Order: sequence, then C-alpha cells, then structure tokens
Amino acid sequence: MVEVPEYLLARSRERRAELTGTPPPDAGDASPETPSAEAPAAAAAVPAPVAPAPIPEAAPPPPPEPDPPYVQAAHARKRMPYWAASVMVFLPIWAIFYVGMLEPPDSEELVLADNGATVYSTCASCHGADGSGTATGRQLNNGELLLTFGPAPGFDGLAHHLSWVYLGTADTKRLGLDFYGNPDRPDGQREVDSFASGMSGFSNLSLEDLVSVVYYERVVHGGLDAETAALEEEMLLALVADAPAFETGSPDEISALLTESALGHGIDLAAGE
Ligand code: HEC
Repeated sequence: MVEVPEYLLARSRERRAELTGTPPPDAGDASPETPSAEAPAAAAAVPAPVAPAPIPEAAPPPPPEPDPPYVQAAHARKRMPYWAASVMVFLPIWAIFYVGMLEPPDSEELVLADNGATVYSTCASCHGADGSGTATGRQLNNGELLLTFGPAPGFDGLAHHLSWVYLGTADTKRLGLDFYGNPDRPDGQREVDSFASGMSGFSNLSLEDLVSVVYYERVVHGGLDAETAALEEEMLLALVADAPAFETGSPDEISALLTESALGHGIDLAAGE
C-alpha cells in the first residue's frame, strides 16, 4: 500500500468532519493508537470508512519497470509540429497535380472539340458564340463554313481552313492570294478582305490550339459528318504529334504536312473519300 502522509490523512478527516457535521473522532485518537507517525498502516486503518474509495484507483501497484529501449526512443523522438498537419492534408492534392505534370503532353489526351471550345472564345466576339456571325465576322453555321472549307473533290478544305485561321486576311494577301476557300463555292469563291475590316491571323496559337479551334468549328458550326470528322481528328492529332513548324502557313504547305503526318502514322487517307 502506498504510504499516505499523516498530514494528508488529518486534512481529509477534517474535511469529512466539516461535511458530515461530526467532530473529527480520531483527531485525538490517532495518536494514542499510533504513538508514532511511522505507522502508516494503522493510520490508514483509522479513517477506514472514508479512505477505501480512492484507494482502488490510487493503489494499482504499477511495476515501475523502465520502458523498453524502443519505447523510450519513441517517446524521445521529435513529434511532427502542429503546423505540419495542414501540410499533410494538402499532400494528396499536390501529389495528384505533380503526377499529372510528370506525364508528357500526349496528343492522344488532347480532346480537340473540348480544347477547341475554349479557344473559340477568342473568335466568338466576331463570329458569335453559335457561329451565326456578327457585323464584324462572317457567319460559320448553317452550312456557310463547309461551303468555304468543307472537303470537296480536289480541294483540301481542312488544310485551307487551318491556313486561313493561321494567316488571317493580311497574311493571306501577303502570300499573293486574293481568294480563299473552295474555288467552286456556289456563290463564288471568297475574296480576301471582303467582309467588315477583315480578320487578324492567329499564328500566335500553339499548334494544339490551332487544330482544336479549326476542328471545333468544322464539327460544331459546320456539322461535319461523323465519319469525316473522325478521319480529320486522326489527321490533326498526327500533325500535332509530329509538330512541324510552318514556313509560310500556305494552304499548299499545310496540305502537304497533313498528308505526310497521316502517312507516317498509318492513317488510311482513302477512308474519307
Ligand atoms: C475581329 C473579328 C474576328 C475575329 C476575332 C475572328 N474572325 Fe474569323 N473572320 C472575320 C472576318 C471579318 C472574316 C472575313 C475575312 C475577309 O473577308 O478577309 C472572317 C473569316 C473567317 C472564316 C472564313 C469564313 C468564310 O466562310 O469565309 C473562318 C473559318 C474564320 N474567320 C475563323 C475564325 C477563327 C477560328 C477565329 C478565332 C481563332 C476567328 N475567325 C476570329 C473576323 C474575325
């Protein structure tokens, strides 16, 4: 049993007497029964009615064996500082971004229509969000786009479309071209600089963005049929994978690059004809 100092026992007796209203019975008795203070067992026995309660809790004889070394080491080890907990919370999010950045830009991952929708926001001010045109830009929907740049026998509409967006009004003229688009357009081939104040070129776009916005216009505004759209998407992704630099960006140059990439990637060009 743990030795309880005499003064603590005396205090608890007094406290009990105060609470119960009975005078401390053993204040004087303790000394006769226990002549000296060094009889803890006897002293503890006297206030027996009160004392037992705390004893079961206070008394479990803990074998004061020292912790094994590895436990001591664990206690001694530095803990993670509290602020680090917030860092830990964001760690998985950061890891996802990090892994995402490690993956090489893969042209298979480029979703032309999705990316094109984003890029088209720079064109919508003139051509309208739905391609219906405005006072500053020609109409693209209701068949207009494909009349100019749709696939036709002997005419690489895809290459001409890419070239037009890349060069715009001024640079198309600079190449010595006075007309653009399908020469067999029912109401006559488009004349360069024949609408509003013309269109700036978008040679500043990345190749990914250029092919994306062109594909987007062809599919969304032009309503290109699914089979041709699938072939063109393959060709555009092949071009992006090869990432050629344009010399002039003329329709003929881009047409040759498209064909070269398609053949290099085993695309069956006859499939779309
Ligand atoms: C400043 C307004 C303006 C912006 C912005 C603009 N365009 Fe144009 N776009 C025009 C005009 C004007 C024409 C006719 C140009 C001409 O006659 O030389 C045109 C013509 C076209 C045509 C040919 C349509 C046809 O049937 O003749 C296409 C395709 C086209 N733009 C695509 C785009 C794309 C893609 C973008 C965004 C990357 C874009 N435009 C941004 C004004 C604009």
